[in-house]
Amino acid sequence: MRKIYNCDLLNEGLHFTQDNLRFCCAPAHWGPNIDSKNPGSKDVFLSLMDMRKNALKGMKEHIAPEGCVGCIYLKEYDLDSPDTPENILEKQKEEPLISNIVINHYKQCDCHCIYCTQSMYLKKIVTKPQKSDYYDLFPILKQFYKEKLIDTENLRVEFQGGSIAVLKEFPDLVKIFLKHGVKNIQFFTNGIKYMPQIVDASKKCKAHIVCSLDAGTRETFKRLKIVDKFDDVVKNLKQYRKKSKDLEIFAKYILIDGINDNKEEILKFFDVIEDIGADIAQLDMDFKKVMINKGVHYDVPKHFYELYDLFKKECEKRNIKPFIWEYIQGILDKGYFE
Ligand SMILES: C[S@@+](CC[C@H](N)C(=O)[O-])C[C@H]1O[C@@H](n2cnc3c(N)ncnc32)[C@H](O)[C@@H]1O
Ligand code: SF4
Ligand code: SF4
Repeated sequence: MRKIYNCDLLNEGLHFTQDNLRFCCAPAHWGPNIDSKNPGSKDVFLSLMDMRKNALKGMKEHIAPEGCVGCIYLKEYDLDSPDTPENILEKQKEEPLISNIVINHYKQCDCHCIYCTQSMYLKKIVTKPQKSDYYDLFPILKQFYKEKLIDTENLRVEFQGGSIAVLKEFPDLVKIFLKHGVKNIQFFTNGIKYMPQIVDASKKCKAHIVCSLDAGTRETFKRLKIVDKFDDVVKNLKQYRKKSKDLEIFAKYILIDGINDNKEEILKFFDVIEDIGADIAQLDMDFKKVMINKGVHYDVPKHFYELYDLFKKECEKRNIKPFIWEYIQGILDKGYFE
């Protein structure tokens, strides 16, 4: 029996976080820190590539890198088993190209959602584009392209954040990805500001936006997000729909205890997103309280199940695709968070 480890994120991922550069967003974080005064320094990516080389070498010898022990993405394979994918060793090339980039090196935002995990650190609402508090990403990205470390045939990119609307280098980042033939871009956006780069992207590659509307009325939106921008978000989403038929629009609804967890609000949400022409309605749950109170057991409220059924029913009735993450489905199935 010849055993190895594998992690697809290690093979193909590049994750720009607020303080370092990594392969993944997994809880066991590891990667080189970025010198904010010299973000494009070759040392950073050489050191990252070195870490990856060593990690891959270990994986092939069935030694899990320290940062990966216990991670759910770490998979074990037996090379002699017929169940092991044939191309598994091919995927663990010594110098694999990056085909999956996550941009999450900034947290400034033009909104202040009460549930937001970033807002635990947000001090104020930012309305004008500014640099990330941590480092500029553009010079690093340019280096990666220059060194031909990016798989331009298969690149997928995800913008997280923070709000792309107040990230100064956002237009340049989109431009460089489009110039090099990115295949797929996912934009998380609160929708408060219309971003023409999103429509540009949808004309040149597969693109989608995820917008947490979380409400069907201006009042509930304001309670959840502090800013009174419900009408602007709805207008902008309609504008995206009008300008691009190809842009996939996910409208998200995070159930928040005592605020939007009622039938009336959900029905109004569906009226609004049907009018917008959203493609997908996503149901989510607030994970902030479990993040803050680690190890605390939190039962899923009973009425969430009725609301979930209503959500699916409305999707079917209005011909909108329902979406729920596997882990959220898992929480609903077991009945509690931990
Ligand atoms: C951190 S946000 C950043 C992008 C952008 N500002 C936005 O809101 O879409 C990324 C995603 O995390 C989700 N999120 C933030 N806090 C959450 C929470 N406590 N529970 C569930 N989802 C949350 C947001 O709805 C958003 O879709
Ligand atoms: S196994 Fe987990 S920690 Fe290690 S690179 Fe993969 S996702 Fe990251
Ligand atoms: S819009 Fe996004 S980043 Fe901003 S506060 Fe809301 S969830 Fe957080």
